[in-house]
Amino acid sequence: MTADPAASDRRVVRAGSADHGSLEGDGWTEVARSWAAELDARDLDRDRLAHLVARATAQPALRIRELTASPTDAAAVLGLDRATADDYPGDVATAHEPLAEDEPIVSERRRAWGAFEGDLLVALTVLDIDGTDPNAGPVETGFTVVRRGHRGRGLGSAVKAASVLALSAEGHRRFRTGGAAENTASLRANAAVGYRVDEEWVTLRPPAPGPADSADSAERA
Ligand SMILES: CC(C)(COP(=O)(O)OP(=O)(O)OC[C@H]1O[C@@H](n2cnc3c(N)ncnc32)[C@H](O)[C@@H]1OP(=O)(O)O)[C@@H](O)C(=O)NCCC(=O)NCCS
Repeated sequence: MTADPAASDRRVVRAGSADHGSLEGDGWTEVARSWAAELDARDLDRDRLAHLVARATAQPALRIRELTASPTDAAAVLGLDRATADDYPGDVATAHEPLAEDEPIVSERRRAWGAFEGDLLVALTVLDIDGTDPNAGPVETGFTVVRRGHRGRGLGSAVKAASVLALSAEGHRRFRTGGAAENTASLRANAAVGYRVDEEWVTLRPPAPGPADSADSAERA
């Protein structure tokens, strides 16, 4: 993904907060909206999640499993990440950083579940875990992505469901995720798994410099 040079000017604030009001009052303009959501494993409908996984794996040659630190899994993840780098809607608040080739993709603190069609990784969800103590902090979704041509077949919901089923069985209780307001597929996939939206954010850009500001900066240059 190409970095937007203007993006460094952006401010991301809670919708309706005092900061939101005062920035808008100062002429800042909304460029994007995003949301965050939480799932509490104590409210989990495990049968429903198991159904989401089973419905996906009923498709021919489709298998869902946790990814390992093996070179084969790492190559599969990097391949999918490269193929979908430009597919994340929204602005800075929901931007996806391409994965680095020289960093481990999975570890004790970063776990991932994938759906394979044969040997091809077609869906992936990556989650960050804050320490080994399940009560230490929420499990945060890093990102979830499905290969183009495989979307809308329940695979995004299924890998998310598989990850929550496994990590809640290990004792993790709080799960958080988020996304761009216009990303209906992401919102609905998360709702299907049991996440409830509890925060809304706005991304604002500053007012364009007026003629006086431009003259000042020209003088300084
Ligand atoms: C977001 C994404 C992961 C969803 O995965 P998916 O496999 O296509 O989603 P699913 O098939 O599991 O569908 C989930 C829900 O979204 C709905 N949906 C799927 N595609 C949709 C679309 N294009 N528009 C509206 N709704 C859509 C489905 O009907 C389903 O809703 P339901 O549970 O109420 O029936 C996938 O679209 C994607 O990879 N997008 C690009 C990357 C991205 O935006 N990732 C999310 C931010 S990290």
